[in-house]
Amino acid sequence: MKVLVTGGAGYIGSHTCLTLLEAGMEPIVIDNLCNSSAESLARVEALTGGKIPFYPGDVRDEALLDRIFTEHTISCVIHFAGLKAVGESVQIPLTYYENNLGATISLCKVMSRHGVKAIIFSSSATVYSGDNEMPLKETSRTGGCTNPYGWTKYMGEQILRDTAKSDPAWSVVLLRYFNPVGAHESGRIGEHPNGIPNNLMPFITQTAVGKRDHLNVFGDDYPTPDGTGVRDYIHVLDLAKGHVAAIRYLLSHTGTEVFNLGTGQGYSVLDMVHAFQDATGITIPYEIAPRRPGDLPTCYADPAKSREVLGWQAEHSLKEMCRDSWNWQKQNPNGYEG
Ligand code: NAD
Ligand code: WQD
Repeated sequence: MKVLVTGGAGYIGSHTCLTLLEAGMEPIVIDNLCNSSAESLARVEALTGGKIPFYPGDVRDEALLDRIFTEHTISCVIHFAGLKAVGESVQIPLTYYENNLGATISLCKVMSRHGVKAIIFSSSATVYSGDNEMPLKETSRTGGCTNPYGWTKYMGEQILRDTAKSDPAWSVVLLRYFNPVGAHESGRIGEHPNGIPNNLMPFITQTAVGKRDHLNVFGDDYPTPDGTGVRDYIHVLDLAKGHVAAIRYLLSHTGTEVFNLGTGQGYSVLDMVHAFQDATGITIPYEIAPRRPGDLPTCYADPAKSREVLGWQAEHSLKEMCRDSWNWQKQNPNGYEG
């Protein structure tokens, strides 16, 4: 079964392509490489012995999409392609709206023309409003996003819900990811952010490899057990497997359904530092810094619906998340550039 994977050369996309190949499916990738390298796909091919047809280009290029749907009989689409840097989205909001919403709209138009009406969308825990009780259920309040990136995910969900409402043949699965970390255990594929990492785990691994001299812990006076922010970190391969489970659901249902992909377990920033140290034996120097604007004290999922309906749950431990993040970072200190 052929699955079109937009943004498939990226961090989550490359791990999902590997998992699709291992599940006997055939991923086909479109990616404009604005935040990735085609080397990730070459490495997935080497790890699995599979082949991934790759179309370099923009998802907003409808002629290119038309060509892909003509050349392949595609059963469904996983739509990862998008810009994702929260801070950058505040600086260049129009670029974010244009790219993230434009890609989703073009993709749905072309899918509809070719009669392929099954899509999985990469949404985010960031669509939940900040005033919810924890853990977050799929029915928790959404909206009130604190940055344009978050709004593109919120609006992307709405575009897909409305599309499914307009035509009962559509099947839409909205997956709200919590905090993906880790890498394939081989250390051959992983996450390599451009510039100074925004996210905690890449900052920790870059500190461990000597690229940063210390970690700034953004706030130690939150109402959490140790005062630092609590999040739901999930191994990227568990997340990838969630997509395989979602494909099975997608192809046997119509309408729109939303699922959290998280572990249900919250860990603080200092828990992460200690877990990384325990897993690797490397000390991470850190300093307490002011809170980061827009951060919530605590955010973690209720994953019960995914477990009950998709039959999926996260399996990797925090130790494995740390070990695999480090294994990737130390083998590839400069990402795919060697
Ligand atoms: P990533 O940047 O590694 O992957 C996104 C890929 O999309 C990149 O390879 C990029 O080159 C490509 N891309 C972007 N715009 C494109 C366009 N117009 N046409 C073609 N390709 C395009 O990011 P990721 O961490 O793998 O995230 C994948 C998806 O999951 C994104 O939509 C992101 O918003 C979402 N998400 C990520 C996280 C996270 O913490 N990583 C959390 C929640 C949701
Ligand atoms: C985690 C915790 C920080 C860096 C972001 C996006 C969200 C989603 C995932 C895409 C927080 C603290 C971090 C550092 C720190 N992405 N921290 N020092 O903020 O939960 O979510 O990524 O959808 O939309 O907002 O993840 O990894 O940035 O932060 O103390 O150098 O680590 O304050 O408590 P976050 P994160």
